[in-house]
Amino acid sequence: MTTQNNPSSNSARPLAVVTGASTGIGFELARECARNGFDLVLAADEALDRAEAACRELGASVETVTADLATLPGVDELVQRIANRPVDALLANAGHGLGQAFLDQDFDEVQHVIDTNITGTIYLIHEVGRTMRGRNRGRILITGSIAGYMPGSFHAVYNGTKAFVDSFAYALRNELKDTDVTVTCLMPGATDTEFFKRAGMEDTKVGTDTKDDPADVAKDGFDAMMRGDAEIVSGWKNKVQTTVANVTPNEMLAEQHRKMAEPGTGKK
Ligand SMILES: NC(=O)c1ccc[n+]([C@@H]2O[C@H](COP(=O)([O-])OP(=O)(O)OC[C@H]3O[C@@H](n4cnc5c(N)ncnc54)[C@H](OP(=O)(O)O)[C@@H]3O)[C@@H](O)[C@H]2O)c1
Repeated sequence: MTTQNNPSSNSARPLAVVTGASTGIGFELARECARNGFDLVLAADEALDRAEAACRELGASVETVTADLATLPGVDELVQRIANRPVDALLANAGHGLGQAFLDQDFDEVQHVIDTNITGTIYLIHEVGRTMRGRNRGRILITGSIAGYMPGSFHAVYNGTKAFVDSFAYALRNELKDTDVTVTCLMPGATDTEFFKRAGMEDTKVGTDTKDDPADVAKDGFDAMMRGDAEIVSGWKNKVQTTVANVTPNEMLAEQHRKMAEPGTGKK
């Protein structure tokens, strides 16, 4: 289902497409784009009324697309709604987690994590990125995660998808290095959004610990995208964590992750 409001085909303002814009980091990325003069196409699989109103308040024209971006038809719907408008910035942010031990998970849910975080994300980038390369102009921000640096016991598939995304962003950036299309990977640490509730991880240590503010994370990501940086790890604690993870054996990282993500480890 889609709604159309003030499409910006004749607007002189640049156009940004933000996925996963209904809540959390994507909601704040959308607001950051609006604040910085972009018109917007926002996508998520549930209602985007709050994001639409918040971005309009900041002066943007906003169009919303409600589609399951885990599916190729869902991504096609978003691409069709962008139509022939040049996309100046693509913020591929939609994603979700899934807690519990891998063998206890429902495989349909496992598949949905992979299809959202990997297949839908790279299919959208493939569609929009080709047009950007043709125009020799555009910015792509991909929301990866510092989770991609560590084997995620009790969040195994999610961390694997983010390892894919983090790696993919660098590779695509390199392939486009002789063009004016930039690729930036935003790698947040634990951030205070709907993420942990949706992943069923509210009884875990990482789910109950203090987290980063999604507005700060989004600002870091947006600024890095505008500078054309390769990556941004948001927050100094997360920068330390990724530096340490780079020199820590994977078996030890997996054990540390168990202590954060195993059900029952959360504060009561
Ligand atoms: N929170 C963290 O600690 C953290 C840390 C590192 C990276 N990240 C990444 O940051 C990104 C945003 O997550 P968040 O923390 O802001 O969580 P969030 O508040 O749950 O937001 C996730 C957004 O993605 C959308 N989405 C999820 N699956 C979708 C699908 N199949 N089709 C369309 N939209 C879908 C959701 O839309 P609906 O509301 O319509 O479902 C929502 O807009 C994700 O890629 C996540 O992996 C989060």
